[in-house]
Amino acid sequence: MNQDRQQTPVAETIWFRGNCATAEETATLARKFADMLQPGDVVAFYGNLGSGKTYFIKALCQAWQCAQEATSPTFTIINEYTTRQGVFVYHFDFYRLESEAELMNLGLEEFFYNDYICLIEWADKIEKYLPPQRWEVYLDFLPEHPDARAVKIVKREPHE
Ligand SMILES: Nc1ncnc2c1ncn2[C@@H]1O[C@H](COP(=O)(O)OP(=O)(O)OP(=O)(O)O)[C@@H](O)[C@H]1O
Ligand SMILES: [Mg+2]
Repeated sequence: MNQDRQQTPVAETIWFRGNCATAEETATLARKFADMLQPGDVVAFYGNLGSGKTYFIKALCQAWQCAQEATSPTFTIINEYTTRQGVFVYHFDFYRLESEAELMNLGLEEFFYNDYICLIEWADKIEKYLPPQRWEVYLDFLPEHPDARAVKIVKREPHE
């Protein structure tokens, strides 16, 4: 894997920053975000256990009318879905990633540098292998509001 890519300067554009007061608001935001994504896009999700990463991905897959319902791939690492338009969507969850060797066996570059859409939970665990051009979705709990989340969506692009 080419880790030098991480050295490329990147521009960050905030696409959304705000609070989603309910799960349904998060789902509505995810459905709008679904329209922004194209084959080849990689989306890294950040947020603690239960912050809503899988929930957000489920809403994306509903918006794309995937043939399969998105489920947490915690024990398999990768789930594959297909959108109504025939785009392959790969849903990764690296929470239980045990070793770098396990990562090498997956052949991540094949997924990330292709015309698929890749959605990555616990992206922090594979930070150095993420492509510099990517979306990032941050989900955070808000104190005293169990059903609310602070959400930030950023687009990162290399620039010369
Ligand atoms: N505003 C909100 N946005 C998103 N999810 C919410 C919100 N309010 C409540 N929830 C609930 O929080 C839960 C989030 O669970 P989810 O499995 O998506 O978390 P996760 O980030 O994928 O956790 P893990 O790290 O274990 O994979 C869901 O049950 C969802 O209904
Ligand atoms: Mg999850």
